[in-house]
This record gives sequence, C-alpha cells and structure tokens, in this order.
Amino acid sequence: MRFLIQSGKTLLVSGPASLKLQEGEANVFGAPFKPQQRLIVKREKQFAIEIIEESIIEGDFGESATYLEIDDTTIPESWFEAANTFQKSNNKKLLVIGSTDTGKSTLCTFLVNHILKFKQSVALLDADIGQSDLGPPGTLGLSIINKPYIESDNLNLDSMIFVGKTSPSSVTEKVINGISKLENSVQKGTSIVINTDGWILDTEAIAYKLRMIRQLDPNMTIILNEGKEFYNIFENNLPFMRIQVPKFIKTRGREDRKKIREYHYKKYLKNAIHTNFSLNGIMMEGFLPNRIEGGEILGFLDLNGFLIGIGILEYINRRKQILRAYTNVNVRNVTSIECGNIRLMHDGSEIDWE
Ligand SMILES: Nc1ncnc2c1ncn2[C@@H]1O[C@H](COP(=O)(O)OP(=O)(O)O)[C@@H](O)[C@H]1O
Ligand SMILES: [Mg+2]
Repeated sequence: MRFLIQSGKTLLVSGPASLKLQEGEANVFGAPFKPQQRLIVKREKQFAIEIIEESIIEGDFGESATYLEIDDTTIPESWFEAANTFQKSNNKKLLVIGSTDTGKSTLCTFLVNHILKFKQSVALLDADIGQSDLGPPGTLGLSIINKPYIESDNLNLDSMIFVGKTSPSSVTEKVINGISKLENSVQKGTSIVINTDGWILDTEAIAYKLRMIRQLDPNMTIILNEGKEFYNIFENNLPFMRIQVPKFIKTRGREDRKKIREYHYKKYLKNAIHTNFSLNGIMMEGFLPNRIEGGEILGFLDLNGFLIGIGILEYINRRKQILRAYTNVNVRNVTSIECGNIRLMHDGSEIDWE
C-alpha cells in the first residue's frame, strides 16, 4: 500500500507491518524515519509516524495489522513539556514511573531522542523486569545511546544485572540496588533516563517506588498517571511531573505480555548449547536445595557482578561439582551463577510453577 500524507499528520501503524519512506520527511517518537530505511513494526507494537514534509510511505501489512491517519500528533503536549524542562534545567537523571501500558517505554524513547538533540550520548536504564526493552525479562539493562532510535530491540546492550523474577514485589531491594549499580557504571555527566516496572497501584508498590526515588534521587520523576493514588506520595517535596497517558496506546493482554517475554528469552538464548560448568571456585546464589527442578533461569555473572548472559538449568551434580545448563555463555568468564524464579523451555517458553 502507498500513502501520500500531508505534513502535520500522523500515520499510526500497529504491527505486524513493514514500512518504507519513499519520499518526504517523517519522525517516529522523535527519531528520524530515514528515507529508504525499512521500518519493521512488530505484532505487539505500534508506531506513530509523524509527517514533517509531505511524504509517500509504502507499507506491507500483516494479517492483524492496522493503520490510521490522524490529523495531529499522538504525543501529548505534556511530553514535550517534560522534554523541555529537562533541557532547560540541564537535568541529569530522569525516572519514569507508570502502570503497564501507559507509554513508559515510548516516553523513554521520546526523551532519549530529544536529549540527543543537544547531548552526545544518553544512558537508557531499563528496570522494567516484567516487560524489558533491554535484555531478557528478569534483568535490568543499560544502553549508552548516541543516535536517535525507534526500536529498542536494535539497541546495544552495555551492561545487565540479573534479578531472576519478572515481578518486583519480592525483590524490591535487588531492583533498586541493581539500578544504582548500573547507574554507577555510567560515565559521570551523562544524562540518564530510567524506565521502571508497572507495579504502582497498591500501597506496597507505592512504598517501593518511594524507596526507589529516595535512593536514586533523580532530578525529576515523571509519572504517567492520571489517577490520584500516586500523587499523595509526593507530599515531601520530591521533584516530579505528572504527565498524560497518550490517547492512542496499544494495550497488551496477559497472553501478549507472556509472548513478548518469550520472544525475548529466545533472543537471548540464541546459539545456546548444553554446557557443563565446574562449580569449583564458583559462587552460587538462589539455589534452594529442595526446589530445584531443572528449567530454572540462570544468571551467569562476571567478576564485578554484572550479568554476562542467561541460561536454563538442566541439573546439578553436587558429587561431581558440575552444573549443566543450556546457554550461550562461555564458561571462562563466569565467577558466579544465580538461580532465578522463572522456569523456561529451550525455546524460551515459560513453564508455570506447580
Ligand atoms: N504517544 C504515542 N503515540 C502512539 N503510540 C503510542 C504512544 N505511546 C505509546 N504508544 C504505543 O502503545 C504501546 C504501549 O506503549 P509502551 O510505551 O510500550 O507502554 P509501557 O512501556 O508503559 O508498557 C506501544 O506499542 C507504543 O508504541
Ligand atoms: Mg515498557
């Protein structure tokens, strides 16, 4: 299909689709949509192509794909305000908070792309362990970005921290400390945009996010929330902005979110093989003696406690001091192995706990 679209309009495309800008000028979430570049919109995603100069866009659409021409931008006014505030006050650290499907990841993309207009590089720190943009689910990821991006899947991963769970409630300290650790690895002076998990709607969650804010001490916390629940925690003068959830969100159901996680596990298990690890001199964490069944996600960590890669536990032979795993991690660099609370098949699909 070919679209001729006037400047100022937006083509909202929900995947699976493949797009090409034949002529004209367009942006996606603040990054240029380069002419002749092929832009893949995955099934679970939606891209808003903002037309700067009248454009011709060619699109191939999969079965469940949709497209919609809109007269305006789909980026809320308050997103521009947030970006401008950041620029004006030369803020270094931004924390993005919001429930699932409120546009957190997209806002991070938008902010990073905006900051890159006047900074050489920006650190994106992804702490959404349930729906990670960087790294497999159950991990925290860091990417130092120096050119605008549209699809986070294509970003370089600079460091990761293993958490081993996809919901934060029982690992809150681990998540917060992990963020601090990643943050400390970023060169001083670099702006940091931190994305977080979507657990915010009960008192425990609010307490957790408040602890996170206190410990990380961002220059600004951006809350994607229309509701009141979260507002109350900010009585103690922490700098924050409440901004709008976009009107055109593509929501995902529980099954969709599971599929997205599985796609990502699979990606990070690419080229995995059955590997034996000698446990001599290797630290082990999180292996609960009576609960090991095989299938558990493993984090292989380096000397500094950063995650090298994940794997799936096959078995442990304590007598021979051998752990066998399905992984693409090289035995040589591993200093410790952590056992997580997610169980996986070799193809990345999740196994439910009985
Ligand atoms: N401003 C926007 N315009 C168009 N689509 C958007 C916008 N914000 C988010 N979306 C789409 O809605 C979906 C959910 O947004 P996302 O940023 O992934 O939310 P979250 O990270 O909070 O779960 C994504 O497919 C995204 O592309
Ligand atoms: Mg997200």
